[in-house]
Amino acid sequence: MIKTIILIGGPMKGTRFRPLSLELPKPLFPVAGYPIIYHHIEACSKVPHMKEVILIGFYQPNDALNKFISNVQQEFKIQVRYLQEYTALGTAGGLYHFRDQILAGNPDSFFVMNSDVCGDFPLKEMLSFTVQKGGGSHCTVLGTEATRQQSLNYGCIVENKQSHEILHYVEKPETYISTTINCGVYLFSPDIFSTLEKIFKKNQEDNYNYKAGNGWFTGCDPNTQMKETIRLEQDIFVPMAGSGKLYVYQTDRFWSQIKTSGAAIYANRHYLALYQNWHKERLAKNGELKPQIIGDVYIHPTADVHPTAVLGPNVSVGKHATIGEGARVRESIVLEGAVLQDHCCVLYSVIGWNVTIGQWTRVEGTPNDPNPNKPFAKVDVKDTFSPEGKLNPSITVIGSNVQVPSEVILLNAMVLPDKSLGGSCKNQIIL
Ligand code: GDD
Ligand code: GTP
Repeated sequence: MIKTIILIGGPMKGTRFRPLSLELPKPLFPVAGYPIIYHHIEACSKVPHMKEVILIGFYQPNDALNKFISNVQQEFKIQVRYLQEYTALGTAGGLYHFRDQILAGNPDSFFVMNSDVCGDFPLKEMLSFTVQKGGGSHCTVLGTEATRQQSLNYGCIVENKQSHEILHYVEKPETYISTTINCGVYLFSPDIFSTLEKIFKKNQEDNYNYKAGNGWFTGCDPNTQMKETIRLEQDIFVPMAGSGKLYVYQTDRFWSQIKTSGAAIYANRHYLALYQNWHKERLAKNGELKPQIIGDVYIHPTADVHPTAVLGPNVSVGKHATIGEGARVRESIVLEGAVLQDHCCVLYSVIGWNVTIGQWTRVEGTPNDPNPNKPFAKVDVKDTFSPEGKLNPSITVIGSNVQVPSEVILLNAMVLPDKSLGGSCKNQIIL
């Protein structure tokens, strides 16, 4: 029997995803029509003997999360539960804290997945790879190739090319180590808990007189840890490398982090493309009295799109959204309840919940795609502002309940929720 743990973090995380993460937990943000972690759970549901998915995080239980859990349980006929950490325990602290629940029923092994990644997750392949390596006591990390420069933003892996054993692991190194990076998806055998226990006890001893919260809350040195915090990467993988128990399974399928709204547009495009293989029924089709569809487009069945509108490529339209006559939408996510009035044009943007875009208005962002001329390039996580204090061009994001008037232009803008815009704006954050 197999289980999966998804690390969903908490309200202090996902700051680069604002203002969208102000409304609902980032892991529930819809990409290609479904919440980010819905795609994780769907991938898990295809693994034979997958009995349970446990979400671990430090969000207060909330309606959105409860509703999501009951929906996915029904749809995938798999048990899904949320376990709340009393504080941020780090990427492995929660695993250790909830070890009894994870080990209940004696799983043979379990996956751990970061929630802020997306991809065509090769879970079955990771399982067979691990069996090939002799099963038993193991930990397999999903790896992928990045550019030299971008690798510095990830966990970097040096492997034995023949055996795929991890010889050396460095989390976000300062100088180049390797272009093989950690994808934030792992397969563990249950005896990882003995290692976690050792680290837990050592942390207790080392930090016995440290009381305050950890770096996220206090702004103090993030290397100063709370006694209960365990970091999977630094505390477990670094010492485990070279011990013969840590392996990397490398994938060349689609994979990306989702740290920013620009990355959500990128993930949207790739999940829509995957629907071509697995879920053709989710993609909108052209037809009489239907809007013109270009490329991959997802339209929620309750959305109302005028037959003269043109959508695509790479657009998803949420529940009860309305798109008027002659509107044009491309490379964008339109969220639940948004209204795009007649003849407006929306390009490279995220239109928030219940936003209204006036007639003949143009909303446009700048794509934040990986450099197409560099093999293995990933989405860059750019700072919001340039060193000169200017807003870096990025996709346009409009927070919920914003009213955008008719006949204006919004270019590379970020609009916080509940604003009423007076006119056009370019390269601005509207607070
Ligand atoms: N439950 C819980 N508790 N989850 C957490 C906590 C915590 O205290 N801290 C982080 N997480 C979750 C986040 O929600 C996210 O899904 C995941 O753990 C990793 O988050 P970060 O700590 O922000 O790490 P990162 O994304 O910068 O880097 C990690 O992922 C990369 C791949 O995307 C590392 O594992 C890198 O090595 C890796 O390359
Ligand atoms: P590239 O050649 O890929 O750069 O795109 P493009 O020249 O087709 O133009 P752009 O990316 O600016 O626009 C994408 C689509 O939106 C095009 O098919 C345009 O016809 C359409 N479009 C652009 N501006 C407007 C507008 O103001 N209103 C409407 N209704 N459609 C527009």
